[in-house]
Amino acid sequence: MWAMKLCLSILAVISCCEASKILVVFPLPGKSHAILGDGIVRHLLNAGHEVTYISPFPYKPESPKLHWVDISDNFKAMPEEMMNINAIMEKKVDFGDHMALFHVMTNIGRATVENPNVQKLMNDPKQEFDLVIVEWLFSEVTIGFAAVFNCPYIWSSSLDVHWHVLHLIDQPLNPAYSSDAISTNLPPFNFWQRVSELYTQLKVQYYRYMYTNAIEGQIYQELFGPYIVKRGRTPPPYDVLHYNGSLILGNSHVSLGQPAPIPQNYIPICGYHIDDEVKPLPQDLKKLLDNAKNGVIYFSMGSNLKSKDIPMQIKTSLLKMFGELKYTVLWKFEEDLPNRPTNVHILKWAPQQGILSHPNTILFITHGGLLSTTETIHFGKPIIGIPAFGDQFINVVRAVQKGFALQVDLSYTMADDLKIAINKMTTNPKYAEKAKELSFIYHDRPEKPGKLLAHYVKHVIETKGAPHLRSPALHVPFYQKLYLDLLAVVLVCLFVLVRLLKLVYCAFCSSKNVQDKKKTN
Ligand SMILES: *[C@@H]1O[C@H](CO)[C@@H](O)[C@H](O)[C@H]1NC(C)=O
Repeated sequence: MWAMKLCLSILAVISCCEASKILVVFPLPGKSHAILGDGIVRHLLNAGHEVTYISPFPYKPESPKLHWVDISDNFKAMPEEMMNINAIMEKKVDFGDHMALFHVMTNIGRATVENPNVQKLMNDPKQEFDLVIVEWLFSEVTIGFAAVFNCPYIWSSSLDVHWHVLHLIDQPLNPAYSSDAISTNLPPFNFWQRVSELYTQLKVQYYRYMYTNAIEGQIYQELFGPYIVKRGRTPPPYDVLHYNGSLILGNSHVSLGQPAPIPQNYIPICGYHIDDEVKPLPQDLKKLLDNAKNGVIYFSMGSNLKSKDIPMQIKTSLLKMFGELKYTVLWKFEEDLPNRPTNVHILKWAPQQGILSHPNTILFITHGGLLSTTETIHFGKPIIGIPAFGDQFINVVRAVQKGFALQVDLSYTMADDLKIAINKMTTNPKYAEKAKELSFIYHDRPEKPGKLLAHYVKHVIETKGAPHLRSPALHVPFYQKLYLDLLAVVLVCLFVLVRLLKLVYCAFCSSKNVQDKKKTN
């Protein structure tokens, strides 16, 4: 009897120590970001942790171990035209501009901390966490939560690996062979591309150094500072906290992105948001796909861009073009379209993973968001990319370079361009073959991404921030990495040597002159 009691209490101790309290912060009011946040939450809940989730979107399904902190007010901090196709086509928004991105993202960071629900959380002395996970997207101020709750933090990077996040845990990548997050250059670079990548890095570093860090440091002191003091500690300097992340969980993988030299504490877990088992399709949709003997083309511009914002002229020309095809076309669109050809079907809501996994789906026409390109490689389908903003351009350019995609520009003639691309794709098998090949590389990993995620989260908590994983490069100044100090020493030595030689030579010459003079006299 006592043995059983002992066992039970040991079990209780083990399970209580394995389950941790984790705060997950995904402040962006964009559905794709929430999908990535939800993925992390799902894996943490499955691992038995208790999760508090700061997000503009509610997490489904509800769970007694999940506490949602509603920051849906963040939608107000997002400029409306940011996600509107029309505005993008009229070039009213410029996503290539880092400064504008910093500005918007910092405002979203501030709105998150100022949110009354978040303030309530920080104000509650009973709230304690073992770990904070924050999304990185051109703003870093939300790491302040780690200082409030006095625990380690992990970055979650939603994009392919790039210099900007790596500089937070290691050092920037060399711009001579790696692209910026929103650049469209791909290595190997020509001379001007190489110069342009260097320029971007220098410009962004300068801007961070001069403005962003100061602004975020101020938000940190003002908005997090009082809560840290209230919990009886002095706020650590922002500069120190800033470079104290335990690791990065990166939504990247070599099958889709660049094979970058990454440090020990960058963990590529691309694909973790995809369910281990695809949910079965609704009956009517399944029937439609099963019966599509010539194949299915799936068309979706993602969850942020609303297809209803597409100009009417483009909608009609697209419908007409799709109608001329022998394939079944599934178009994810929020409204019904009049005069729709019989082979075109509108889906207000589309179970994308289910559609992509269906054997009759032959092609995916997408905006090229990272989640869509990930899912397409997960299921091994080729794409036609119509990028609209942000990292979509580089995702599509990369997909084209990798050989499983064609690019079509968002324009008033896009129906014609699309028709040509569809023709190429469906007559040449090389695109589909490449997608299958990359899909093999994507799946061929020693551990599934969700498992890896759970493992590293546990590792960071159990080793109190995993300091042993941190790169020594983080605190080595630039001039030391480039041995500029050695160069200075060598130059000084050379200078002194030359001077000395000159002195000796002159002394020799003058004594010789004296002797010569003596001789002539
Ligand atoms: C930095 O991280 C380590 C390990 O997680 C922690 O012990 C330390 O207190 C942190 N320092 C600051 C200033 O947050």
